Amino acid sequence: MSLRAEKAEISQTPRDDSLDASVAFLREGYTFVSSRCDRLGSDLFRTRLMLTPVVCMRGAEAAAIFYDGGRFTRVGAMPATILRLLQDVGSVQALDDAPHHHRKGMFLAMMTPPALQRMVAQFRAAWLSAVPRWGERQIVLQDEVSAILAEAAAAWAGVPLDPDRAPELTRQLVAMIEQTGSIGPANWWAQHLRNRAEHHWQDVIRAIRSGRAAAPEGSAADLIARHRDLDGEFLDETTAAVELLNVLRPTVAVARFVTFAALALHRHPQWRETFAGGGEELLRPFVHEVRRFYPFFPVIGGRARHDFVWQGHPFSKGDWVLLDLYGTNQDERLWPEPLSFQPERFVDWPGDPYTLIPQGAGDYATGHRCPGEWLTIALVEEAVRLLTRTIRYEVPAQDLTVALDQLPALPKSGFIMQKTQLLAA
Ligand code: HEM
Repeated sequence: MSLRAEKAEISQTPRDDSLDASVAFLREGYTFVSSRCDRLGSDLFRTRLMLTPVVCMRGAEAAAIFYDGGRFTRVGAMPATILRLLQDVGSVQALDDAPHHHRKGMFLAMMTPPALQRMVAQFRAAWLSAVPRWGERQIVLQDEVSAILAEAAAAWAGVPLDPDRAPELTRQLVAMIEQTGSIGPANWWAQHLRNRAEHHWQDVIRAIRSGRAAAPEGSAADLIARHRDLDGEFLDETTAAVELLNVLRPTVAVARFVTFAALALHRHPQWRETFAGGGEELLRPFVHEVRRFYPFFPVIGGRARHDFVWQGHPFSKGDWVLLDLYGTNQDERLWPEPLSFQPERFVDWPGDPYTLIPQGAGDYATGHRCPGEWLTIALVEEAVRLLTRTIRYEVPAQDLTVALDQLPALPKSGFIMQKTQLLAA
């Protein structure tokens, strides 16, 4: 028996009894980890996924262990079918220590308050120009907002979409998000679209560097095209395109939170009334609750970088670990009545880097926490203003079920609206 196997043998860490839990993971989706933590009475347990041993953990303390202290790398921690569609090889997420902190600085430089305001203004303008096209007919909010965000994000990043190619480029970005949970042909098709997207954005980077195209100073494209890694070298074209996609794709993904915000306003009309008449100071609590309550990323994977012990469990270098993001956002020790939608819980919230973790935990600059979190919050806040103060619409009968076994989750109908009218410019 290897040392590692011996250590696992003697550890008291609870174990999920199935031989391999992959099917259960796909069947249960977002609740897979937390239901087992509840059943086993532990914040961590051992199991096997895709025939590989894995430790699953949840809760604020687990988030701190996972995100702080450089204990985990993302390298080798995600199946290739997911990795290729999301952050990809060579991206900031695949780096550790000083090279990571240096590259992360490039992303954080994109997120200055004036830059966030510019993106919110682009988003609002794109939304207002889309509304007259909606008119009486039924539209699917998720699809419309994805296109609006693609247009706004590209313009904000300094690489505006050519209107002729906008639908195709938007489709590519949406496919990368939608198909992360798929296997087989749907995933292969998304990989194909991803390849095409990378080629397109490599051409764009080449054009900026050669002076054939201009990206405004300080824009995401400008920062990426001019960025030098710690070795003093520019990013190669492939990596630069991957990082540009790491700005555009997740910004389009914010559409999912916008759709969930619309669903929350529909389910809890008192909040619609609050915001229609003001309630500016309650926007942040409402958006935090949308991000806590609704499912987005279920878990995040890491590989231990060295041996250590937590809660009596001996982690060895190379061990595969999944942190339950959704389960931590729904942990009733942190969030009383977690299944009830209560923005009030965030009114006097002092902030805590390890409890509300839909976009990762810990520190932005030195850990892997999402650098787009402020942008996400600002965009969803603006969407709530638009939905409650700027347009009027009807919500026809439809299937708004959010199935927790669908990764990534969304209301089944994508949120259909009709008879949309502008109330104010
Ligand atoms: C749509 C809502 C979003 C969600 C749910 C989300 C979620 C996450 C999560 C969970 C992580 C942590 C990954 C890890 O621990 O390895 C992350 C990292 C990251 N996110 Fe986001 N994100 C969102 C929006 C954005 C936006 C708008 C941007 C950029 C404009 C962005 C760019 C990134 C990047 C570059 C990383 C990697 C950071 C690193 O490894 O240090 N995300 N995101």
